[in-house]
Amino acid sequence: MTTAWWKKRTVYQIYPKSFNDTTGNGVGDIPGIIEKLDYLKKLGIDVIWLSPVYDSPQEDNGYDIRNYRMIDDLFGSMEDMDRLLEEAHSRDLKIVMDLVVNHTSDEHPWFVESKSSKDNQYRDYYIWKDGKADGGPPTNWGSIFSGSAWKYDEQTGQYYLHLFAEKQPDLNWENPTMRKDVYDMMNFWLDKGIDGFRMDVINFISKDQAYPDGEVKSGEKYGDPGPYFVNGPRIHEFLQEMHGEVLAGRDVMTVGEMPGAEPEDGKVYTDPDNQELDMIFTFEHMSLDEEGGDKWNIKPLDLRDLKENFEKWQTSLHGTGWNSLYWNNHDQPRIVSRFGDDGEYREKSAKMLATCLHMMQGTPYIYQGEEIGMTNVHFDDLNDYQDIETLNMYKEKSELGWSHERIMEAIYTKGRDNARTPMQWDSSRNAGFTEGTPWLPVNHNYKSINAESALHSQNSIFYHYQDLIRLRKKMNIITQGRFQLLLREDPQIFAYERQGEIDSLYVICNFSSENIEITGELNEELKGAEVIISNEKYPEPSNLQPWEGTVYWLKK
Ligand code: NOJ
Repeated sequence: MTTAWWKKRTVYQIYPKSFNDTTGNGVGDIPGIIEKLDYLKKLGIDVIWLSPVYDSPQEDNGYDIRNYRMIDDLFGSMEDMDRLLEEAHSRDLKIVMDLVVNHTSDEHPWFVESKSSKDNQYRDYYIWKDGKADGGPPTNWGSIFSGSAWKYDEQTGQYYLHLFAEKQPDLNWENPTMRKDVYDMMNFWLDKGIDGFRMDVINFISKDQAYPDGEVKSGEKYGDPGPYFVNGPRIHEFLQEMHGEVLAGRDVMTVGEMPGAEPEDGKVYTDPDNQELDMIFTFEHMSLDEEGGDKWNIKPLDLRDLKENFEKWQTSLHGTGWNSLYWNNHDQPRIVSRFGDDGEYREKSAKMLATCLHMMQGTPYIYQGEEIGMTNVHFDDLNDYQDIETLNMYKEKSELGWSHERIMEAIYTKGRDNARTPMQWDSSRNAGFTEGTPWLPVNHNYKSINAESALHSQNSIFYHYQDLIRLRKKMNIITQGRFQLLLREDPQIFAYERQGEIDSLYVICNFSSENIEITGELNEELKGAEVIISNEKYPEPSNLQPWEGTVYWLKK
């Protein structure tokens, strides 16, 4: 059997709104992406995942789709999209589109119809319920974007479900006609020549039909609906059906975004024998710095938790399923600010973090700007923030009694706009992102952190990523070796071994600003090994430098 192509390739995520604006309207666009394909080719990535560019009212930056078969004017036209596909393919770059089918926009014609009357043929495309006896919402469920997950509709006297914003009504996957329409739409895009899908919260699509109330946790106003839709009762059936109707026989790549999936679930979703998905995004490693399941309730990361978590996923999926490897995306704060040091050791820690992740088994994802070590942003004025999740949360937490300072601190640390500030291309006005006024302010460190200066410095984070991508292609052990965690109890060093038949890799990463000595057996082992990549000129295991990340290769 040949190895699937996506096992040796690296994906680059583009958040189109913030990537590159060619029209001066302050919003990135598809021609802007085309302009930068050579930059991406130089980085060495092979696949581009495009966050949504479909027609949308942009309530949630395109994750609220009005027309699945149209490109939003903001980003260009279908001709631009066709040209992007052509230009990408001619450079041997693949394009994976975002598939958002847990919900649509409330402006999607299906919802407009559905809402118009109880007996409309589209009524059942969404989830409508009567209120409780007292007229209140059908369940106590809270929305992921704050407030109730139900919205009352005066006209028909029922509530509809929206796990996210009010303008993002959930589709009813129990309805086979709706499912068929979704599959037709997916086939439309694949027939056009796209190379796969990243599926938005795809493990949320099957809801528990009993619709019970959720547990109300302390300090919360609403019940937790998670148990009634995360990895819901018919999820595997739906994914297998989708596979049969759309994916079977096509050489494409699929990745499911799956909050709440554990390794055992991951194995089922990605085992090729089950014919569901190629890989999934887990969220577990992204929740280790929060308390009580509330992303805004921040606690410091204990590195041991992170190591243990990666170990769990690396060992569980080995030989059966396949991991996605990521630190960043458009929903997460910048990794160098989160688990690294975005001050004195910005470059070093960014490289170390990249090394630590890219030497694992799975398909690595790089989020725009990660390759130049972009950092979180601090806007003093709440009005500068655009993200609906952040703005809704501000209101809800204020009502719960959180101080302004505490909420702002949470936004600085975790807010999604950290990842969404415009890409920093050069040191000119607006970081070369736009000639107009950017839709979200540019991070003011753009004069020193930008792609142009990274390209000019042989020692930059950019070239480090380039090396990592090359190594993955060259060395089979990176895609195939077993994962063995080393120095388990060490609170500052993340060390692991990748074991192959004829060789081993030792990945040694210092997650601290201290010099650390590695002693004993591991030190002995490393003495005879060859350094294949490092962010230190002369790495020395007995004297690990602050934020050092070094990979040793040992032939048996
Ligand atoms: C996950 C997406 O990544 C996020 O950006 C979006 O807000 C929600 N799903 C809703 O679509």
